[in-house]
Amino acid sequence: MTRIPWWRNAVVYEVYVRSFTDSDGNGEGDLQGIRSRLGHLRDLGVDALWLTPFYTSPLADGGYDVADYRDVDPRFGTLDDFDALVADVHAHGLRLIIDIVPNHSSDRHRWFREALASPPGSAERSRYIFRPGRPGERPGEEDPPNDWPSAFGGPAWTRVDDGEWYLHLYAREQPDFNWRNPEVAQEFEDVLRFWLDRGVDGFRIDVAAGLFKDASFRDLGSNDRRAPNGPIYSRPEVHGVYRRWRQILDEYDGDRMAIGEVWTNGPEDLALYLRPDELHQVFQFDLQLASWSATAFHDVIVAALKAVAPTGAAPTWVLSSHDSIRHVTRYERAGGLPGIGRARARAALLLLLALPGSAYLYQGEELGLPEVTDLPDGARQDPIYERTNGELAGRDGCRVPLPWSGDAEPYGFSPGGVRPWLPMPPDWASLTAEAQASDPSSMLTWYRDALAQRRRLAGVLPEDVEWLDSPGTALFFRRGPLTCALNCGENPVRLPPGTPLLTSAPLYGDLLPGDTAAWLTSSR
Ligand code: NOJ
Repeated sequence: MTRIPWWRNAVVYEVYVRSFTDSDGNGEGDLQGIRSRLGHLRDLGVDALWLTPFYTSPLADGGYDVADYRDVDPRFGTLDDFDALVADVHAHGLRLIIDIVPNHSSDRHRWFREALASPPGSAERSRYIFRPGRPGERPGEEDPPNDWPSAFGGPAWTRVDDGEWYLHLYAREQPDFNWRNPEVAQEFEDVLRFWLDRGVDGFRIDVAAGLFKDASFRDLGSNDRRAPNGPIYSRPEVHGVYRRWRQILDEYDGDRMAIGEVWTNGPEDLALYLRPDELHQVFQFDLQLASWSATAFHDVIVAALKAVAPTGAAPTWVLSSHDSIRHVTRYERAGGLPGIGRARARAALLLLLALPGSAYLYQGEELGLPEVTDLPDGARQDPIYERTNGELAGRDGCRVPLPWSGDAEPYGFSPGGVRPWLPMPPDWASLTAEAQASDPSSMLTWYRDALAQRRRLAGVLPEDVEWLDSPGTALFFRRGPLTCALNCGENPVRLPPGTPLLTSAPLYGDLLPGDTAAWLTSSR
């Protein structure tokens, strides 16, 4: 029998380190805090943790601005804490994936400080992307080298004192590396080995499609940033990097893996990253982006499976992350009776877990946390926080610290009396892990039960999805002995035959009320 590597069917739990658990009372989560909660993750039933960046950083973009790739930021702990965490994670039977941020560093990285202190054309500048500007429309004015936009708004270029401009596809505190410089490539190979030697099981690669830019820096024009053959993302040269990284991962035992954050031009481009000598997985954001409708879910699932099928890679599924509005709130906003967001979140979990491949959960979804939409302006820290037409945008609302216990802030996140880095809502007492753990009707119990069912079925389910006829508002599919039924509509529908294993709402006979899912064994 072929051995199935651990990540192919894994349920991976994203830990947003700053908001998970604060052990030392500085109001921010840390590595020791994660160690103290591994029991929660084991009881939840996940297979692996993915840690967002914990490296030395000024946190201009929540740590995706790394100043030292080989050290832990003091607010999150020490390298010794990291080693202890790796040992504990493995002792709990879990795996550990860490984030790697190769597209850009922090502007406080030693290399960037050296670049600023060195003249145009110097070796120090060539580790980043510095270019001369273009003459502006009016005499004496200068424009950026081209029209590329930053993903966070405004131009992707900032001018320095001597008149050159540097590229940053994100915040100005995140200068892009020049991957055409072999020194950059070598540095990241060394960084990978540094963490592999410390025992990590894999990497989540940030902005994986961005490392190489069009060598001529041609304008984007009216094209979409991610359009085919565009100048910014998914240049062919990037694949050479991942081939080399794959060789390094394969030098280590224990099925070390890499998953890319790749926003592609289309399914074909996605497959390019999954060639057998490149990345093991890429995130497929299709479910997260789909609207609440059986047709939408069906179509994105079919397309997502089709995209990875020729590569032989396992698909991946996501509902929420530290970059998106929490799905309880997204589903609530999609309309329906008050409270429907939580019912839909329960249903969506069964869909996620019934699909082949691996599922990536975001911390707090097991508690049914909603997006926090009323953070005071002064508390917000996300660089893309802004008010657009009076509506608050930004990603802080999904990054509010987790409530663990007690009936008031900091709800066990920090030691008593400490104020967490983002304020926590006054009405979260019923959402704490402690309050939910012993409640059979809680979201936490639902997640534990669903994950336990998935574990029980592991190894017996075929990878293929067999679609069954279903009424318009519902989605039915089968994988061997498992049938998943999801009703996205308002009215009950008749279920396919089988014995219920789990259902996200009371069953009335064999009718499934609106907005629920059931997970069944087949009668075959
Ligand atoms: C994707 C990360 O998930 C996001 O949080 C970050 O802002 C950008 N990449 C830039 O690193």
